[in-house]
Amino acid sequence: MPMSLSLVGRLLFAPALLAASSAAAPAWASSTLDIKTVASSCANCHGPDGRSTTIIPSLAGRPQAALLEQLRAFASDNPPAGTTIMNRLVKGYQDADLQALAQYFSTLPSTPVSMAQGR
Ligand code: HEC
Repeated sequence: MPMSLSLVGRLLFAPALLAASSAAAPAWASSTLDIKTVASSCANCHGPDGRSTTIIPSLAGRPQAALLEQLRAFASDNPPAGTTIMNRLVKGYQDADLQALAQYFSTLPSTPVSMAQGR
């Protein structure tokens, strides 16, 4: 007896649905921390929402992969030469937290929304 069409349809669409739902869930779900709260602690040095007005680099709107690469470098046994504080700061965070932070800051606008709107 041939498979019913509706069963074929379900088999075909099930993986697509799974993919869609995992894409919709925030990637920081795997971090056990409240990432927005953690990220607000970065503001002391990197500026509100990661937009710095000092010599410390901005984080907002930077590519997620680049931010994650830097955070992992700070967390490694050989942090980049010249690192002053970030190597100590990232200790205590798990890789899932670093991923979440990288994703969070990459999604923030690099220009304040009010400025972008000309207000
Ligand atoms: C006490 C100040 C301070 C805090 C708090 C801080 N940072 Fe930093 N951050 C720095 C400094 C200074 C550097 C330059 C590297 C160094 O000297 O450690 C830096 C560099 C970085 C860089 C690399 C930027 C680049 O372009 O080179 C990233 C990414 C970063 N910080 C992310 C974060 C995140 C995420 C947090 C919050 C969890 C955070 N920082 C909290 C001071 C701070």
